[in-house]
Amino acid sequence: MKIAVFGLGYVGCVTAACLAQMGHTVHGVDVSDAKVRLLNSGQSLVLEKGLDKLVGRMVAEGRLHATLDPAEALDRADLSLVAVGTPSHSDGSANLDHVASALGGIGRFLRGAKKKFHVVAIRSTVPPGTTEKLVIPTLEKVSGKKAGVDFGVCFHPEFLREGSSVEDFFNPPKTVLGTSDPQTVRRLLRLWKAVDAPVFVTSFKTAEILKYADNTFHALKVSFANEIGSLCRRLGADSREVMRIFVQDTKLNISPLYLKPGFAFGGPCLPKDVRALGWLARENGLHLPVIQNILRSNSRHMERAVDLVLSAKRQRIGVLGLVFKSDTDDLRESPACELVKRLVAAGKRVKVYDPRVRLDRLLGANQTFIRKELPLLPRLMTESCSELSRASDLIVLAGNHPEFDDAIRGLKKGKILIDLVGVRPDLGWADVASQSLT
Ligand SMILES: NC(=O)c1ccc[n+]([C@@H]2O[C@H](COP(=O)([O-])OP(=O)(O)OC[C@H]3O[C@@H](n4cnc5c(N)ncnc54)[C@H](O)[C@@H]3O)[C@@H](O)[C@H]2O)c1
Repeated sequence: MKIAVFGLGYVGCVTAACLAQMGHTVHGVDVSDAKVRLLNSGQSLVLEKGLDKLVGRMVAEGRLHATLDPAEALDRADLSLVAVGTPSHSDGSANLDHVASALGGIGRFLRGAKKKFHVVAIRSTVPPGTTEKLVIPTLEKVSGKKAGVDFGVCFHPEFLREGSSVEDFFNPPKTVLGTSDPQTVRRLLRLWKAVDAPVFVTSFKTAEILKYADNTFHALKVSFANEIGSLCRRLGADSREVMRIFVQDTKLNISPLYLKPGFAFGGPCLPKDVRALGWLARENGLHLPVIQNILRSNSRHMERAVDLVLSAKRQRIGVLGLVFKSDTDDLRESPACELVKRLVAAGKRVKVYDPRVRLDRLLGANQTFIRKELPLLPRLMTESCSELSRASDLIVLAGNHPEFDDAIRGLKKGKILIDLVGVRPDLGWADVASQSLT
């Protein structure tokens, strides 16, 4: 392919050189005269292992060239990759001026372009909604042509890491194509055919936010490890040893578990232990904002659930599920109990059903918890899903159980279902007005 790469910074320089190495003809575009001249003299613009040699070789072989002129780079090009900077504004928002300016150049090229279908892939990190609100409108306005018909658009996040970016380019963790246009997907799949990585084709918005989710998670991991490390040091424990063992648990720790959006966490262990760790930090004179704000984040999530239920403005509310997670009968600090308590406090007529909860069998800590936190539970419990369904205009799914599936499937038109836990999509409750928290 003939490829134009906009922006010759860390991402663009590596991308341009590596694509040339893959056999493509690459024209890099930048607004910096110095960068253009340096690259054309065969030198890398950034310090990356193996990049200097690669750039020198690709420029010498005539497969990599830089220019200040978008039209020169775009002439007969199959694909544009936009990798210009998106730095922060002082309020934290992303500055999209460079993206808009690069799109202007591409749009002008598209205006004069002949029949050939050109694909524009955005590799810069941009906020969700940018492709639909900025990229497509700008390209359509400037070119006078139609996205998906005359040219293709994809949000195509970049996952390479500085320091190992050449290696990462050829071995990415994943390839994400945010587009619904089949011709664009085919073009980009052809581009990445030689690269072995799982491919995910998704919507613009999912791809856009995914990139932010990835980086925020990396930042969260570093901060978490540093807070645990600081506490370990204060307590005289070996932080490296703690985290070395921690990461080897790929069943619960470094795994997809606990990473599904849904309802708040609860139960007998997580809230209690997070509380204890926060206290320990305070006692030892440490301020650990990530750890010490986890319970606040969880409470805020509970408030969003309550607000969502109240916003439906229904008086008779049925809550399905009371235990803190499936396959247990433990009610201690269950988020569903807290939800019921708040709905009752808001003046709602609440009914509850959970086949795992037998009030006559409540013992020990469970019994104490309910007596203290939800003493009116006996008056709220129903004997079956159908009884709860009859007594409610709005059903809140606050837990999973096979019995709940049938109840949801059988919900009558006009009832509202609020799914706090992420119900299976095959339950067929299309007739029911439904909403979910996450
Ligand atoms: N650096 C990384 O490791 C990394 C990884 C993944 C994604 N990203 C994202 O990729 C994007 C680029 O990051 P970077 O670190 O390479 O940025 P950078 O600041 O190093 O480079 C951006 C380049 O774009 C050029 N530029 C600005 N306006 C231009 C225009 N209108 N036309 C052509 N060139 C123009 C600048 O002169 C500069 O050379 C950002 O959105 C960033 O968030 C970066």
